[in-house]
Amino acid sequence: MLEPDMNALPDAASPSGPPLFELLDVEKIYQVGVRSGLVARGHVGLAALDGVRLSIRRGSSVALVGESGSGKSTLLRVLLGLTEPTQGLALYRGQPVARMRAGGQDFAREVAMVYQDARGSLNPRMSVGELVAEPLRHFAICPPEEVAARTQDLLARVGLAADVAARYPSALSGGQVRRVAIARALASNPSVLVADEAVSGLDVSTQAQLLNLLRKLQRDMGITLFFITHDLGVASYLCEEIAIMYLGRIVETGPTNAVLAAPAHPYSLALRRAAPKFFEPITEPLPGEIPSPLDLPKGCRFSGRCAFVQDDCRASDPVLVPHGQGRAVACHHPVS
Ligand SMILES: Nc1ncnc2c1ncn2[C@@H]1O[C@H](COP(=O)(O)OP(=O)(O)O)[C@@H](O)[C@H]1O
Ligand SMILES: [Mg+2]
Repeated sequence: MLEPDMNALPDAASPSGPPLFELLDVEKIYQVGVRSGLVARGHVGLAALDGVRLSIRRGSSVALVGESGSGKSTLLRVLLGLTEPTQGLALYRGQPVARMRAGGQDFAREVAMVYQDARGSLNPRMSVGELVAEPLRHFAICPPEEVAARTQDLLARVGLAADVAARYPSALSGGQVRRVAIARALASNPSVLVADEAVSGLDVSTQAQLLNLLRKLQRDMGITLFFITHDLGVASYLCEEIAIMYLGRIVETGPTNAVLAAPAHPYSLALRRAAPKFFEPITEPLPGEIPSPLDLPKGCRFSGRCAFVQDDCRASDPVLVPHGQGRAVACHHPVS
């Protein structure tokens, strides 16, 4: 596989300071069983991540956008040291993230996570109050006599009424569960907040309230935000930088406004065109189906669906290369 020139690549975040997180040519292959009928036919490798390179600087806000199955959650698991990459490196402050994670409580306190399955991430036998108080006690964030007041404070910050503290997760709505997960994540005073589809599927008023809260945290408190979403509107509201994924690869990255105003990758353009707008019909959706990561096309993985495809696209696989101010694109024939 061709490699981009590392030194020439722009960072996916603001230009100052060393990167907080870095992914260097990360590959993640899952071994999946194949069967014909009821008969097991051994295992094949599924490339969930294929040559991913990403750098997140302190204080930046980065959105990771892509269709379901493009590898977003896998990227996050590698970034947080929850999954070992098959190839490549995941670094936090210049050190292997798995070592930082194993090395003590600092990583767990500094880097807070809101999981895609917020309900599944909460212990059903603990009340909301206990769930939010747990990190306060665990990391000794405040003296024991202040835990109750601090818990109420956190619940209020995410827009939950005080009486919710006595309830259990099973008695909460989807929106309330997300708020609890965010309150719990904020309890340890993290410097990094990583969230996987934290506001997807919520009603618009709940979504707006949580987005405002997250934006305020990022802008006022300087929290580094890494936000996974499939919603370009959410990405543009919340994050200064965007990275667009397609089938295990980052295909475009740069300042969110610049990328969305004039996408360089045909896939980014197609995503933008597919986003619903007021008073306008939705333009043609992407033709064809997303290929299986078990059977990637030769050359560019987007070539089968690309409106601008040319012969060389089916022959060689484009890599991420610089494309204007702070931007990079993996395409032989960028649109803009
Ligand atoms: N534990 C796993 N074992 C096998 N395949 C997996 C596993 N986790 C994810 N995958 C596959 O890897 C690809 C990327 O998945 P995922 O990272 O969850 O994507 P996304 O979060 O963008 O929807 C998908 O094809 C998915 O089926
Ligand atoms: Mg996911």
